[in-house]
Amino acid sequence: MIVATDQTLEHLLNLNNYKVRMQRIRTILDYSPTKEIDFGDIDNDYISGLIEFKKVNYQVKGEKILDNVSFKVYPNEINAIVGHSGSGKSTIIHLLYRFHKITSGSILIDNVNIYDYTNSIYASNVSGVYQRPFVFEMSIRDNLSLVDSNFLHQVEVCKRVGIHDFIMSLPKGYHTVIGEEDPHLSNGQKQLLAIARALLSNAEILLFDEITENIDSETTSRILSVLLDLKTNHTILMVTHKPEMMEIADRVIVLSAGKVSCKGKNQEVYQKSSLYRELRNHYFVSASKSE
Ligand SMILES: Nc1ncnc2c1ncn2[C@@H]1O[C@H](COP(=O)(O)OP(=O)(O)OP(=O)(O)O)[C@@H](O)[C@H]1O
Ligand SMILES: [Mg+2]
Repeated sequence: MIVATDQTLEHLLNLNNYKVRMQRIRTILDYSPTKEIDFGDIDNDYISGLIEFKKVNYQVKGEKILDNVSFKVYPNEINAIVGHSGSGKSTIIHLLYRFHKITSGSILIDNVNIYDYTNSIYASNVSGVYQRPFVFEMSIRDNLSLVDSNFLHQVEVCKRVGIHDFIMSLPKGYHTVIGEEDPHLSNGQKQLLAIARALLSNAEILLFDEITENIDSETTSRILSVLLDLKTNHTILMVTHKPEMMEIADRVIVLSAGKVSCKGKNQEVYQKSSLYRELRNHYFVSASKSE
């Protein structure tokens, strides 16, 4: 079984053979790195993006990672999963990519079991971005062409996330090779490019796991406004440790040791959950301490 961690993904990419490497990259972008699951043949492409976890249990080697987890995630909203390290946040995202099969319960999208969708329909409706900017050592254009080679579409998504003008200011524009010719491409800009690529898939559902980690506050604000724009026609599910990201969430799911400890509208959860208040305030405390 392939355990989907950033390290594994990096290892998969660390291949000399270009052809094999391209195949791996496509596999990763299609989010189908495991053969342990048989998928169904439902190919309804008109997905509104309602996600539901119903009494989901997920065990690995007898150890409970998720314990009776139930929640709903709504279209046209920013939904945040928060919790301490190891509480199971990324596991929820990985299950939604169908990397692993749950032990019991069900995960539904638009009331259909996620494992019943075909691979291609699933990949074109569920997309996302990882914690570390996943851009490859090829031109900006080629990075985007991995999902859609139509240049007009590429420019459109880059404008939407606000990096088009920056790309055009580079001497080679969209032909700039990342890694070799991009001394000015920050982590944040790479992350915006990864978001643009995810948008090219036209997926309704966007999964973002800690995408503003190690990103400066200016780009974090940029990403914040991108998410607020994207929610107008997507379902957004994000994992975050950053209070300013939590603030823009419409709904919050608080996880503690694999269980949902609180969920609901952001303000309500803030009133009810001391753990959520701790997570929202922690960052400011540590930031002011370090000043
Ligand atoms: N495939 C797996 N095999 C073994 N253990 C796993 C697997 N997936 C997750 N875990 C364990 O499940 C727990 C939850 O991990 P997860 O990565 O979901 O936490 P997280 O909330 O995302 O943490 P962080 O904030 O540090 O990213 C951890 O104890 C982790 O070690
Ligand atoms: Mg995580």
